[in-house]
Amino acid sequence: MCGIVGYVGNQDAVPILLNGLSKLEYRGYDSAGVAIQRGEKIEIRRSVGKLINLQKSLEQKAIGGMCGIGHTRWATHGKPSEQNAHPHRSESCVLVHNGIIENYVELKQRLVKDGYKFQSETDTEVVAHLIDTHMKKSKLHLADAVRATAKEIRGSYAIAVISEREPGMLVAARSGCPLVIGRTAEASFVGSDVMAMLSHTRDVTFLEEGDVVEVTAGAVTFTDLDGRTVTRKKTKVTWDASAAEKSGYPHFMLKEIHEQPQTILDTIRGRYSYESGEADLPDIGLTPKQFAEVGRIWIVACGTSWHAGLVGKYLLEEMVRTPVQVDIGSEFRYRDPLIEKNDLFITISQSGETADTLAAAREAKQKGARVVSIVNVVGSTLARESDGVLYTHCGPEIGVASTKAFTSQLAALYMLALHLGRVRGVLTVADGKSWLDRLVTLPALVKHVLGREAEILAIAKRYYKKPDFLFLGRGINYPIALEGALKLKEISYIHAEGYAAGEMKHGPIALIDKDMPVVVLAPRDRLYEKTVSNLMEVKARRAPVIAFVAEGERELGKIADAVFTIPDVHPLLSPILFTIPLQLLAYHIAVLRGEDVDQPRNLAKSVTVE
Ligand code: F6R
Repeated sequence: MCGIVGYVGNQDAVPILLNGLSKLEYRGYDSAGVAIQRGEKIEIRRSVGKLINLQKSLEQKAIGGMCGIGHTRWATHGKPSEQNAHPHRSESCVLVHNGIIENYVELKQRLVKDGYKFQSETDTEVVAHLIDTHMKKSKLHLADAVRATAKEIRGSYAIAVISEREPGMLVAARSGCPLVIGRTAEASFVGSDVMAMLSHTRDVTFLEEGDVVEVTAGAVTFTDLDGRTVTRKKTKVTWDASAAEKSGYPHFMLKEIHEQPQTILDTIRGRYSYESGEADLPDIGLTPKQFAEVGRIWIVACGTSWHAGLVGKYLLEEMVRTPVQVDIGSEFRYRDPLIEKNDLFITISQSGETADTLAAAREAKQKGARVVSIVNVVGSTLARESDGVLYTHCGPEIGVASTKAFTSQLAALYMLALHLGRVRGVLTVADGKSWLDRLVTLPALVKHVLGREAEILAIAKRYYKKPDFLFLGRGINYPIALEGALKLKEISYIHAEGYAAGEMKHGPIALIDKDMPVVVLAPRDRLYEKTVSNLMEVKARRAPVIAFVAEGERELGKIADAVFTIPDVHPLLSPILFTIPLQLLAYHIAVLRGEDVDQPRNLAKSVTVE
């Protein structure tokens, strides 16, 4: 949800900022802009649309300087336009912002009375004018003016500000939105995440809530809102920078789909002991005794991560025999949930920055629950604020539609369920070993399914022009039907719905006709025959049926219009294997329709606002 970058050093800032922004474009791409300081003078350049437009504008008419800030926008207040693009200027300062200023209307009224003329419809511009007021009226230095402003604004922000009055100084601050500082011997970097600076440095420091940092080429000073110096821990990033490149694939999404045998392996490797049939999760934060005392289990997440949570409910209830309640982050936080002290609260998030999920975790913590988070981005806010973390270790996910992070979240949930099942004595050593035997085969099975991509492409070619799709699944594969529909709708803009197969007759059946392909997931489990009956109802209404079934299946093969088989695995493992062809189906349909797969319209990778 908007990406911000900053650079102060001894090189031309423009290419460094543009490179950083290109790594942050997943956070929004409604517009982009930079502000570059040369001597005292600050020049701004902004363009609507993707970063490439800004790049072209800078190629046509260059600007130069060794200090600057940049922004890539996901619009919240004010339409995507050049006028609303960041950076925003007030007389004495220029600023970029990620987040939402909740009290901007009241602040704007006050500033208008004071004579400020607003150039944009954004909430951000009030921050620039407030800083300006403090610099001019109260004669404060930039950093003090930022602190004074931070005390007046409500909401969430990560900002980077420069001023013509203090050349070579960049002030950054955070509350509610992520911000990272990087250092080399000659330069300092600011970014919404580490990817923005990974080609320059691996030594980074994550800001904490309320931090204000004074950044120059030679030093970084961390302070709190009252200007007291604070100490922040440095982190060494171990991610491979090349993991964030496309490696010959036409899109990040396809690359990330194909990485899944490796990423699933990376999520489980080194995290179990076969001899004792146990998952070994050292960062989980809770002792076996605390796990044994757990009362109820909650899972809270958003979007695709919520779908992983729904699968987690089936896994945990089956392997731990404890009731699990799954909630959507944005719903959970406003209903005064009945959490108790010994409850285990699991949050799932690729980015670890999703505002709704974070708010839920904070609420649960405040009510005394123990919070364990399944997170991909190391050092993210959710990871830092949780009692324990289970990192998915699947490397940076750039494609806006989540793929490899989802299957790694599922793999992490299997590990967590195994851990809890063993600790609570529900699973024996032999049960644990059987689960591990099954789990370790998953990467090879996923690879096998990926090897049959051509079959999915052929199915995509038959149906890519259809306007609506229905996805049906039952039991543990019902969330996978939801996920298949979400993947298709978000990147192809085709209307798609996921439904529990048995629920179809209660309403959605009214939609079915020859132009609505029905995708059905039918593993060979105890619900298989019921699913076949649901499909007969669909066939009777002449809808094309695309069946995803387990190898060896005969009946659906006869009635479906297209069939794709997955290896016949234990039913609890089938979600991962069904996910892969659904990701490929969504991908190929979107490509055939000529859509921008990696950066679908209106979406952002990291949703740090409510
Ligand atoms: C869909 C997608 C989103 C995210 C959701 C939560 O492909 O990526 O639905 O899953 O915004 O994001 P995280 O997992 O970062 O909390």
